[in-house]
Amino acid sequence: MPDPLNAPLDSTAATAAREAWERFPSMLGTSIATRGMSAGNATEWGLGGSSPRSALPPISLGGGIPDAETQPRHELLAAMSRVLEHPGDAPLVYGGAQGFEPLRDEIASYFARNHPGRPSADWYLLTNGAAGAIESICASFLDPGDVVITEIPTFAGSLRTMRGKQADVVGVGMDEEGLKLDELESTIDRLEAEGRRVKLIYTQPTFHNPTGLTMTLQRRLDLIELAARKQVLLMEDHAYSELYFDGAPPPTLSELTDGYGVLTVGTFSKVIATGLRVGWVQARPDWIQAMVPARFDMGNSPLLHRMLHEYMVRGNFREHVEEMRKLYALKAKTLAGALEPYGEPYFDVVEPAGGFFLWLKLRNGLTGDAVRDFAAEDGLSFPSGNRFYPGNDVGDDGESVRLAYSWPPAARLEEAAERLSRAFHRAANGG
Ligand SMILES: Cc1ncc(COP(=O)(O)O)c(C=O)c1O
Repeated sequence: MPDPLNAPLDSTAATAAREAWERFPSMLGTSIATRGMSAGNATEWGLGGSSPRSALPPISLGGGIPDAETQPRHELLAAMSRVLEHPGDAPLVYGGAQGFEPLRDEIASYFARNHPGRPSADWYLLTNGAAGAIESICASFLDPGDVVITEIPTFAGSLRTMRGKQADVVGVGMDEEGLKLDELESTIDRLEAEGRRVKLIYTQPTFHNPTGLTMTLQRRLDLIELAARKQVLLMEDHAYSELYFDGAPPPTLSELTDGYGVLTVGTFSKVIATGLRVGWVQARPDWIQAMVPARFDMGNSPLLHRMLHEYMVRGNFREHVEEMRKLYALKAKTLAGALEPYGEPYFDVVEPAGGFFLWLKLRNGLTGDAVRDFAAEDGLSFPSGNRFYPGNDVGDDGESVRLAYSWPPAARLEEAAERLSRAFHRAANGG
Protein backbone atom coordinates (compact mmCIF):
# COMPACT_ATOMS: atom_id res chain seq x y z
CA MET A 1 0.00 0.00 0.00
CA PRO A 2 1.64 3.34 -1.03
CA ASP A 3 2.13 5.83 1.77
CA PRO A 4 -0.16 8.82 0.86
CA LEU A 5 1.88 11.20 3.04
CA ASN A 6 5.11 10.40 1.24
CA ALA A 7 3.89 9.94 -2.34
CA PRO A 8 6.19 11.33 -5.08
CA LEU A 9 5.53 15.03 -5.67
CA ASP A 10 3.30 15.81 -8.63
CA SER A 11 4.16 19.49 -9.08
CA THR A 12 1.48 20.24 -11.70
CA ALA A 13 -1.19 21.09 -9.13
CA ALA A 14 1.23 23.19 -7.07
CA THR A 15 2.40 25.10 -10.15
CA ALA A 16 -1.19 25.74 -11.27
CA ALA A 17 -2.11 27.02 -7.79
CA ARG A 18 0.90 29.32 -7.66
CA GLU A 19 0.14 30.69 -11.11
CA ALA A 20 -3.51 31.28 -10.25
CA TRP A 21 -2.54 33.23 -7.11
CA GLU A 22 0.06 35.24 -8.98
CA ARG A 23 -2.72 36.61 -11.19
CA PHE A 24 -4.90 37.48 -8.18
CA PRO A 25 -4.60 41.16 -7.19
CA SER A 26 -3.93 41.00 -3.43
CA MET A 27 -5.90 44.21 -2.82
CA LEU A 28 -9.09 42.40 -3.82
CA GLY A 29 -8.76 40.12 -0.82
CA THR A 30 -8.50 42.81 1.86
CA SER A 31 -11.49 44.31 3.66
CA ILE A 32 -13.02 47.62 2.60
CA ALA A 33 -11.69 49.21 5.81
CA THR A 34 -8.14 47.99 5.15
CA ARG A 35 -8.20 49.11 1.55
CA GLY A 36 -9.00 52.62 2.73
CA MET A 37 -5.94 52.71 5.02
CA SER A 38 -2.26 53.40 4.51
CA ALA A 39 0.40 51.37 6.30
CA GLY A 40 1.06 54.38 8.52
CA ASN A 41 4.07 56.67 8.56
CA ALA A 42 6.92 56.89 11.09
CA THR A 43 4.98 59.37 13.25
CA GLU A 44 1.93 57.12 13.40
CA TRP A 45 4.14 54.19 14.46
CA GLY A 46 5.98 56.31 17.02
CA LEU A 47 9.33 55.89 15.25
CA GLY A 48 12.16 58.36 15.34
CA GLY A 49 12.54 58.84 11.60
CA SER A 50 15.88 59.49 9.96
CA SER A 51 17.51 62.04 7.71
CA PRO A 52 19.55 60.19 5.14
CA ARG A 53 20.21 63.42 3.26
CA SER A 54 22.83 64.72 5.68
CA ALA A 55 26.48 63.99 6.41
CA LEU A 56 26.01 65.29 9.99
CA PRO A 57 25.35 62.74 12.74
CA PRO A 58 21.58 62.33 12.88
CA ILE A 59 19.51 63.76 15.74
CA SER A 60 15.91 62.62 16.01
CA LEU A 61 13.24 64.74 17.64
CA GLY A 62 10.76 62.48 15.88
CA GLY A 63 9.10 59.83 18.04
CA GLY A 64 7.53 60.00 21.49
CA ILE A 65 10.08 57.50 22.81
CA PRO A 66 11.61 57.42 26.31
CA ASP A 67 15.26 58.32 26.86
CA ALA A 68 17.48 55.51 25.59
CA GLU A 69 19.99 55.50 28.43
CA THR A 70 17.66 55.37 31.40
CA GLN A 71 15.60 52.30 30.66
CA PRO A 72 15.78 49.98 33.70
CA ARG A 73 17.33 47.05 31.84
CA HIS A 74 18.97 45.36 34.82
CA GLU A 75 15.86 45.51 36.96
CA LEU A 76 13.66 44.20 34.16
CA LEU A 77 16.12 41.37 33.52
CA ALA A 78 16.18 40.49 37.22
CA ALA A 79 12.37 40.55 37.30
CA MET A 80 12.20 38.29 34.23
CA SER A 81 14.68 35.85 35.79
CA ARG A 82 12.60 35.63 38.93
CA VAL A 83 9.50 34.92 36.86
CA LEU A 84 11.14 32.14 34.87
CA GLU A 85 12.94 30.63 37.86
CA HIS A 86 9.65 30.28 39.67
CA PRO A 87 8.35 26.68 39.45
CA GLY A 88 5.18 26.19 37.44
CA ASP A 89 4.02 26.91 33.92
CA ALA A 90 1.82 29.94 34.51
CA PRO A 91 4.06 32.53 32.78
CA LEU A 92 4.26 30.33 29.69
CA VAL A 93 0.61 29.54 29.10
CA TYR A 94 -2.35 31.69 28.07
CA GLY A 95 -3.36 34.19 30.71
CA GLY A 96 -7.03 34.91 29.99
CA ALA A 97 -8.92 37.92 28.69
CA GLN A 98 -8.15 40.68 31.18
CA GLY A 99 -4.48 39.94 31.89
CA PHE A 100 -2.51 38.98 35.01
CA GLU A 101 -4.62 39.95 37.99
CA PRO A 102 -1.82 40.91 40.41
CA LEU A 103 -0.40 43.28 37.77
CA ARG A 104 -3.84 44.84 37.34
CA ASP A 105 -3.93 45.35 41.11
CA GLU A 106 -0.51 47.00 41.08
CA ILE A 107 -1.50 49.27 38.19
CA ALA A 108 -4.63 50.25 40.12
CA SER A 109 -2.76 51.06 43.29
CA TYR A 110 -0.11 53.13 41.51
CA PHE A 111 -1.87 54.77 38.54
CA ALA A 112 -5.31 55.18 40.16
CA ARG A 113 -3.94 56.22 43.57
CA ASN A 114 -6.14 59.36 43.62
CA HIS A 115 -9.29 57.74 42.26
CA PRO A 116 -12.34 58.03 44.54
CA GLY A 117 -13.66 54.65 43.35
CA ARG A 118 -10.50 52.86 44.60
CA PRO A 119 -10.28 50.75 41.44
CA SER A 120 -8.95 47.23 41.73
CA ALA A 121 -8.10 44.53 39.18
CA ASP A 122 -11.66 44.27 37.87
CA TRP A 123 -11.45 47.86 36.53
CA TYR A 124 -8.73 46.86 34.04
CA LEU A 125 -8.27 45.21 30.68
CA LEU A 126 -4.57 44.82 29.85
CA THR A 127 -3.78 45.48 26.21
CA ASN A 128 -1.00 45.78 23.67
CA GLY A 129 0.02 49.28 24.80
CA ALA A 130 -2.24 52.31 24.85
CA ALA A 131 -2.69 51.77 21.12
CA GLY A 132 -4.16 48.33 21.87
CA ALA A 133 -6.42 49.91 24.51
CA ILE A 134 -7.74 52.43 21.99
CA GLU A 135 -8.21 49.67 19.47
CA SER A 136 -10.15 47.57 22.04
CA ILE A 137 -12.40 50.51 22.87
CA CYS A 138 -13.02 51.27 19.20
CA ALA A 139 -13.71 47.59 18.47
CA SER A 140 -16.16 47.37 21.38
CA PHE A 141 -18.08 50.61 20.90
CA LEU A 142 -17.96 51.70 17.27
CA ASP A 143 -20.04 50.62 14.31
CA PRO A 144 -19.10 51.71 10.77
CA GLY A 145 -20.30 55.27 10.24
CA ASP A 146 -20.28 56.22 13.94
CA VAL A 147 -18.61 59.53 14.63
CA VAL A 148 -15.61 59.97 16.89
CA ILE A 149 -14.80 63.53 17.87
CA THR A 150 -11.12 64.21 18.49
CA GLU A 151 -9.13 67.20 19.55
CA ILE A 152 -7.24 68.70 16.67
CA PRO A 153 -4.38 68.33 16.41
CA THR A 154 -4.11 64.86 17.96
CA PHE A 155 -2.01 61.67 18.08
CA ALA A 156 -1.94 60.42 14.52
CA GLY A 157 -1.86 56.74 15.50
CA SER A 158 -5.29 56.96 17.16
CA LEU A 159 -6.75 58.49 14.01
CA ARG A 160 -5.66 55.40 12.08
CA THR A 161 -7.31 53.12 14.63
CA MET A 162 -10.63 54.96 14.42
CA ARG A 163 -10.56 54.95 10.63
CA GLY A 164 -9.71 51.26 10.68
CA LYS A 165 -13.09 50.70 12.35
CA GLN A 166 -14.75 52.73 9.58
CA ALA A 167 -15.66 55.51 11.99
CA ASP A 168 -15.91 59.10 10.79
CA VAL A 169 -13.39 61.25 12.61
CA VAL A 170 -14.41 64.85 13.21
CA GLY A 171 -11.96 67.35 14.69
CA VAL A 172 -12.67 70.04 17.27
CA GLY A 173 -10.10 72.75 18.01
CA MET A 174 -8.20 73.49 21.20
CA ASP A 175 -7.14 76.62 23.03
CA GLU A 176 -4.61 76.88 25.84
CA GLU A 177 -7.12 75.42 28.32
CA GLY A 178 -7.87 72.36 26.21
CA LEU A 179 -10.72 71.24 23.96
CA LYS A 180 -13.00 74.12 22.92
CA LEU A 181 -16.34 73.21 24.41
CA ASP A 182 -18.57 75.66 22.55
CA GLU A 183 -17.21 74.22 19.30
CA LEU A 184 -17.65 70.69 20.68
CA GLU A 185 -21.28 71.28 21.57
CA SER A 186 -22.18 72.90 18.26
CA THR A 187 -20.40 70.08 16.40
CA ILE A 188 -22.38 67.42 18.28
CA ASP A 189 -25.64 69.32 17.64
CA ARG A 190 -24.87 69.69 13.93
CA LEU A 191 -23.93 66.02 13.49
CA GLU A 192 -26.99 64.83 15.37
CA ALA A 193 -29.22 67.12 13.31
CA GLU A 194 -27.74 65.39 10.24
CA GLY A 195 -28.87 62.07 11.75
CA ARG A 196 -25.33 60.91 12.60
CA ARG A 197 -24.43 59.10 15.78
CA VAL A 198 -21.68 60.69 17.86
CA LYS A 199 -20.33 57.82 19.91
CA LEU A 200 -17.00 58.83 21.40
CA ILE A 201 -14.99 61.93 22.30
CA TYR A 202 -11.25 61.20 22.24
CA THR A 203 -9.18 63.52 24.41
CA GLN A 204 -5.73 63.68 25.94
CA PRO A 205 -6.34 66.00 28.88
CA THR A 206 -2.78 65.88 30.23
CA PHE A 207 0.47 66.66 28.35
CA HIS A 208 -1.27 66.29 25.05
CA ASN A 209 0.45 64.83 21.99
CA PRO A 210 1.40 66.85 19.96
CA THR A 211 0.76 70.23 21.66
CA GLY A 212 2.02 69.44 25.19
CA LEU A 213 -1.06 71.27 26.59
CA THR A 214 -2.92 70.30 29.74
CA MET A 215 -6.65 70.82 30.12
CA THR A 216 -7.55 72.99 33.11
CA LEU A 217 -9.67 71.63 35.93
CA GLN A 218 -12.58 73.89 35.02
CA ARG A 219 -12.48 72.72 31.40
CA ARG A 220 -12.45 69.10 32.60
CA LEU A 221 -15.50 69.71 34.76
CA ASP A 222 -17.31 71.43 31.91
CA LEU A 223 -16.38 68.60 29.54
CA ILE A 224 -17.75 65.84 31.76
CA GLU A 225 -20.95 67.84 32.21
CA LEU A 226 -21.35 68.29 28.45
CA ALA A 227 -20.54 64.65 27.60
CA ALA A 228 -23.03 63.39 30.19
CA ARG A 229 -25.74 65.77 28.95
CA LYS A 230 -25.18 64.64 25.34
CA GLN A 231 -24.66 60.99 26.36
CA VAL A 232 -21.40 60.69 24.45
CA LEU A 233 -18.68 58.44 25.92
CA LEU A 234 -15.34 59.98 26.80
CA MET A 235 -12.14 58.15 25.91
CA GLU A 236 -9.28 59.87 27.77
CA ASP A 237 -5.73 58.95 26.82
CA HIS A 238 -3.22 59.38 29.66
CA ALA A 239 -0.10 58.09 27.93
CA TYR A 240 2.09 60.88 29.38
CA SER A 241 0.29 61.92 32.58
CA GLU A 242 2.80 60.52 35.06
CA LEU A 243 5.59 62.57 33.55
CA TYR A 244 4.86 65.89 35.23
CA PHE A 245 7.66 68.36 35.94
CA ASP A 246 6.45 70.29 38.98
CA GLY A 247 3.04 69.74 40.51
CA ALA A 248 0.78 66.80 39.68
CA PRO A 249 -1.78 67.55 36.94
CA PRO A 250 -5.52 68.01 37.63
CA PRO A 251 -7.62 64.88 38.25
CA THR A 252 -8.43 62.58 35.35
CA LEU A 253 -11.95 62.72 33.89
CA SER A 254 -12.53 59.27 35.42
CA GLU A 255 -11.53 60.56 38.85
CA LEU A 256 -14.06 63.37 38.46
CA THR A 257 -16.97 61.12 37.47
CA ASP A 258 -15.91 58.11 39.54
CA GLY A 259 -15.51 56.33 36.23
CA TYR A 260 -19.04 56.93 34.92
CA GLY A 261 -19.11 57.59 31.19
CA VAL A 262 -15.30 57.54 30.90
CA LEU A 263 -12.90 54.99 29.42
CA THR A 264 -9.34 55.75 30.50
CA VAL A 265 -6.30 54.59 28.55
CA GLY A 266 -2.86 54.12 30.14
CA THR A 267 0.48 52.55 29.27
CA PHE A 268 3.98 51.64 30.47
CA SER A 269 5.37 52.82 27.14
CA LYS A 270 6.31 56.34 28.12
CA VAL A 271 7.37 55.73 31.73
CA ILE A 272 9.47 52.63 30.96
CA ALA A 273 9.82 51.62 27.29
CA THR A 274 7.66 51.53 24.18
CA GLY A 275 8.97 48.04 23.36
CA LEU A 276 7.13 46.52 26.32
CA ARG A 277 3.78 46.88 24.58
CA VAL A 278 1.76 46.73 27.81
CA GLY A 279 -1.05 49.19 28.40
CA TRP A 280 -4.60 49.13 29.67
CA VAL A 281 -8.16 50.30 29.59
CA GLN A 282 -9.41 51.43 32.99
CA ALA A 283 -13.19 51.66 33.37
CA ARG A 284 -15.96 50.65 35.70
CA PRO A 285 -16.06 46.82 35.95
CA ASP A 286 -19.34 46.45 34.03
CA TRP A 287 -17.80 48.42 31.13
CA ILE A 288 -14.71 46.22 31.20
CA GLN A 289 -16.95 43.15 31.06
CA ALA A 290 -18.81 44.70 28.13
CA MET A 291 -15.49 44.93 26.27
CA VAL A 292 -14.24 41.39 26.91
CA PRO A 293 -16.41 39.79 24.17
CA ALA A 294 -14.65 41.94 21.55
CA ARG A 295 -11.24 40.52 22.49
CA PHE A 296 -10.04 37.92 20.01
CA ASP A 297 -6.25 37.90 20.42
CA MET A 298 -6.06 35.29 23.23
CA GLY A 299 -4.85 38.00 25.60
CA ASN A 300 -1.42 39.55 25.96
CA SER A 301 1.83 38.04 27.14
CA PRO A 302 1.53 36.52 30.64
CA LEU A 303 5.32 36.44 30.70
CA LEU A 304 5.61 40.22 30.32
CA HIS A 305 2.73 40.82 32.72
CA ARG A 306 4.52 38.81 35.38
CA MET A 307 7.81 40.52 34.68
CA LEU A 308 6.21 43.93 35.08
CA HIS A 309 4.45 42.80 38.23
CA GLU A 310 7.76 41.65 39.71
CA TYR A 311 9.36 44.92 38.67
CA MET A 312 6.59 46.97 40.22
CA VAL A 313 6.49 45.16 43.54
CA ARG A 314 10.22 44.42 43.99
CA GLY A 315 11.96 46.95 41.80
CA ASN A 316 12.13 50.68 41.90
CA PHE A 317 9.26 51.64 39.65
CA ARG A 318 8.23 54.64 41.74
CA GLU A 319 11.76 55.97 41.91
CA HIS A 320 12.22 55.34 38.20
CA VAL A 321 9.18 57.48 37.39
CA GLU A 322 10.44 60.21 39.71
CA GLU A 323 13.81 60.18 37.95
CA MET A 324 12.07 60.37 34.58
CA ARG A 325 10.09 63.43 35.69
CA LYS A 326 13.35 65.21 36.51
CA LEU A 327 15.04 64.09 33.33
CA TYR A 328 12.28 65.25 30.98
CA ALA A 329 11.88 68.51 32.89
CA LEU A 330 15.56 69.14 32.25
CA LYS A 331 15.30 68.18 28.59
CA ALA A 332 12.21 70.33 27.99
CA LYS A 333 13.95 73.28 29.63
CA THR A 334 17.15 72.70 27.67
CA LEU A 335 15.45 72.57 24.29
CA ALA A 336 13.01 75.42 24.99
CA GLY A 337 15.85 77.53 26.41
CA ALA A 338 18.13 76.90 23.44
CA LEU A 339 15.31 77.80 21.03
CA GLU A 340 14.21 80.91 22.88
CA PRO A 341 16.33 83.39 20.87
CA TYR A 342 14.56 82.26 17.68
CA GLY A 343 11.01 82.50 19.02
CA GLU A 344 10.52 86.16 18.27
CA PRO A 345 11.09 85.92 14.53
CA TYR A 346 10.01 82.35 13.92
CA PHE A 347 7.53 80.74 16.35
CA ASP A 348 5.27 80.78 19.42
CA VAL A 349 5.33 77.98 21.96
CA VAL A 350 3.49 77.10 25.16
CA GLU A 351 6.03 75.41 27.40
CA PRO A 352 4.64 72.08 28.60
CA ALA A 353 4.27 71.17 32.28
CA GLY A 354 5.10 67.52 31.49
CA GLY A 355 5.35 64.91 28.75
CA PHE A 356 7.63 64.71 25.73
CA PHE A 357 6.77 67.49 23.26
CA LEU A 358 7.30 71.09 22.23
CA TRP A 359 4.77 72.28 19.69
CA LEU A 360 5.96 75.27 17.71
CA LYS A 361 3.36 77.44 15.99
CA LEU A 362 5.40 79.01 13.23
CA ARG A 363 5.24 82.70 12.41
CA ASN A 364 5.59 84.88 9.37
CA GLY A 365 4.27 82.32 6.90
CA LEU A 366 6.89 79.63 7.64
CA THR A 367 5.48 76.20 6.88
CA GLY A 368 6.10 73.03 8.89
CA ASP A 369 7.01 71.12 5.74
CA ALA A 370 9.67 73.65 4.69
CA VAL A 371 11.25 73.81 8.15
CA ARG A 372 11.20 70.00 8.40
CA ASP A 373 12.81 69.59 4.98
CA PHE A 374 15.59 72.11 5.60
CA ALA A 375 16.28 70.55 9.01
CA ALA A 376 16.47 67.10 7.39
CA GLU A 377 19.30 68.38 5.20
CA ASP A 378 21.18 69.02 8.45
CA GLY A 379 20.43 65.57 9.86
CA LEU A 380 17.67 66.70 12.21
CA SER A 381 14.32 64.91 11.97
CA PHE A 382 10.86 65.75 13.36
CA PRO A 383 7.35 65.74 11.93
CA SER A 384 5.58 68.70 10.39
CA GLY A 385 2.44 69.59 12.35
CA ASN A 386 0.13 68.54 9.53
CA ARG A 387 0.69 64.89 10.54
CA PHE A 388 -1.62 65.44 13.50
CA TYR A 389 -4.82 66.55 11.79
CA PRO A 390 -7.63 64.18 10.89
CA GLY A 391 -7.50 64.73 7.17
CA ASN A 392 -4.14 66.50 6.80
CA ASP A 393 -6.35 69.51 6.13
CA VAL A 394 -9.21 70.11 8.62
CA GLY A 395 -8.17 72.95 10.91
CA ASP A 396 -4.58 72.70 9.76
CA ASP A 397 -2.81 75.85 8.69
CA GLY A 398 0.38 73.93 7.83
CA GLU A 399 2.35 76.20 10.14
CA SER A 400 3.57 74.05 12.99
CA VAL A 401 6.14 71.40 13.91
CA ARG A 402 6.35 68.92 16.79
CA LEU A 403 9.66 68.42 18.56
CA ALA A 404 10.08 65.40 20.87
CA TYR A 405 12.89 66.09 23.35
CA SER A 406 12.50 62.72 25.08
CA TRP A 407 14.88 60.47 23.15
CA PRO A 408 18.20 62.25 22.47
CA PRO A 409 20.63 62.80 25.31
CA ALA A 410 20.14 66.23 26.92
CA ALA A 411 23.61 67.19 25.69
CA ARG A 412 22.49 66.93 22.06
CA LEU A 413 19.45 69.15 22.38
CA GLU A 414 21.43 72.38 22.08
CA GLU A 415 22.96 71.12 18.86
CA ALA A 416 19.42 70.23 17.69
CA ALA A 417 18.28 73.79 18.41
CA GLU A 418 21.20 75.18 16.46
CA ARG A 419 20.35 73.06 13.43
CA LEU A 420 16.72 74.06 13.76
CA SER A 421 17.65 77.74 13.81
CA ARG A 422 19.42 77.24 10.47
CA ALA A 423 16.30 75.55 9.10
CA PHE A 424 14.13 78.49 10.24
CA HIS A 425 16.49 80.91 8.61
CA ARG A 426 16.59 79.02 5.33
CA ALA A 427 12.80 78.55 5.27
CA ALA A 428 12.34 82.27 5.89
CA ASN A 429 14.77 83.17 3.13
CA GLY A 430 13.61 80.61 0.58
CA GLY A 431 16.68 78.36 0.98
C1 LIG B 1 -1.19 60.00 22.98
C2 LIG B 1 -0.71 58.63 22.69
N1 LIG B 1 -1.53 57.60 22.88
C3 LIG B 1 -1.15 56.35 22.63
C4 LIG B 1 0.11 56.07 22.16
C5 LIG B 1 0.49 54.65 21.91
O1 LIG B 1 1.27 54.20 22.99
P1 LIG B 1 1.60 52.70 23.28
O2 LIG B 1 3.04 52.51 22.99
O3 LIG B 1 1.31 52.51 24.73
O4 LIG B 1 0.74 51.86 22.42
C6 LIG B 1 1.00 57.10 21.93
C7 LIG B 1 2.34 56.84 21.38
O5 LIG B 1 3.03 57.69 20.91
C8 LIG B 1 0.58 58.42 22.21
O6 LIG B 1 1.38 59.46 22.02
